[in-house]
Amino acid sequence: MSTPLIIKPKLLIVDDELVQMRAMCDTLDQQGYSVTGSTSPQQALQLLREERFDLVITDLTMPDMDGIAFLKAAREMDPHLIGIVMTGHGSIDTAVAAMKAGAFDYILKPFTLRLIRPVLDRAVSVRRLMKENVQLRETEELIRNLNARLEGLVEERTRQLTDANRELEAFAHSISHDLRGPLRAVNNFANLLAEEYSEKLDDRARGYFDRVLTSANRMEQLIDDLMRLSRINGADLRRADIDVSKMVAGIIAEFQAREPDRHVDTAIRNGLHAKADPQLLRIALENLVGNAWKFTRNADSPKIEFGAADTNSELFYVRDNGAGFNAEHAKDLFVPFRRLHSATEFPGSGIGLSIVHRIIRRHGGRLEAEGSPGHGATFYFSIPEPADNSLTGH
Ligand SMILES: Nc1ncnc2c1ncn2[C@@H]1O[C@H](COP(=O)(O)OP(=O)(O)OP(=O)(O)O)[C@@H](O)[C@H]1O
Ligand SMILES: [Mg+2]
Repeated sequence: MSTPLIIKPKLLIVDDELVQMRAMCDTLDQQGYSVTGSTSPQQALQLLREERFDLVITDLTMPDMDGIAFLKAAREMDPHLIGIVMTGHGSIDTAVAAMKAGAFDYILKPFTLRLIRPVLDRAVSVRRLMKENVQLRETEELIRNLNARLEGLVEERTRQLTDANRELEAFAHSISHDLRGPLRAVNNFANLLAEEYSEKLDDRARGYFDRVLTSANRMEQLIDDLMRLSRINGADLRRADIDVSKMVAGIIAEFQAREPDRHVDTAIRNGLHAKADPQLLRIALENLVGNAWKFTRNADSPKIEFGAADTNSELFYVRDNGAGFNAEHAKDLFVPFRRLHSATEFPGSGIGLSIVHRIIRRHGGRLEAEGSPGHGATFYFSIPEPADNSLTGH
């Protein structure tokens, strides 16, 4: 709103006395107004119908229609029109009546520029404010409408996206499910072939069969992973208050029990809680801790830490001092089947973190990875309090 709303205020002067009307027109024209004059209220109303004026100055006593009636009719056309009445000393009462009927001010005849200038200036300012007000209200209305449309659009798009996602999940699920049958047949017959005809096969053929079997097993594992992944989104979120520190400690103890010969130092900050779905959070932590456990295999003195950013107790982290990774690829880690290490060096499918990512996102949180090659990795995840403060959510 930096451009002035009224560049040259438009004035309409109505006075049945032609000479007086002209004199006023000339005077105000020189004062920087855009002035139109009329000797007939009827004609003036016609002009008002055709174009917009900021101010009308009207004589009070005119033969075919008095100033008050004229102003009333004019303001019915434009409620923001500012009307000023002209009156002689003898008819101040009528001027007061005119103001009661909606006139903005009155000027006394015979008028001097010194007297009418401030009245006009004030009228112009008020008119400008009114226009700004109207514009503001219109802008407000526009913003309100746009917001409503935007909200509707977002809702609609979210619904479409949710539907599409659900369909995609169902599709992935049924594909994975359907792939299993033929794959099992490949597996079974390859096994039979290898067992029953092994005498007839030379080493090279047996080698090929081994590779068929290994690939079939690998594919089965991938299908399992895919199904696990598609299940995460479908499951209902049932939040409960969880001692995350305890859960992490339990998971590490399980890894330790499976590999009693490995020695891994741990540093777990006690008493960290979150409102999360226990089963899903456990899956996420098993993956994060599992990775830390796996990627510290070659570290000199392996260490796994669990804690929370001090400034924000909703932001947890799992840190290790293992193989680490190139930070440039941090975002890729959450894409299913994307791996930064070879399967011979560190086994795995590359599905774990994408599961973690989905679980954290379903809780409304974020997952971020930090690391550098040879210097370990840190995975931050947040579990914000549910907005409605309830323990169940979706
Ligand atoms: N703690 C970590 N240290 C170093 N690299 C990691 C760590 N965690 C994950 N990565 C990198 O991210 C990749 C993806 O991890 P993700 O858990 O998804 O798969 P994975 O562990 O390879 O296999 P899966 O979890 O399916 O058994 C890993 O292959 C590895 O390159
Ligand atoms: Mg993993």
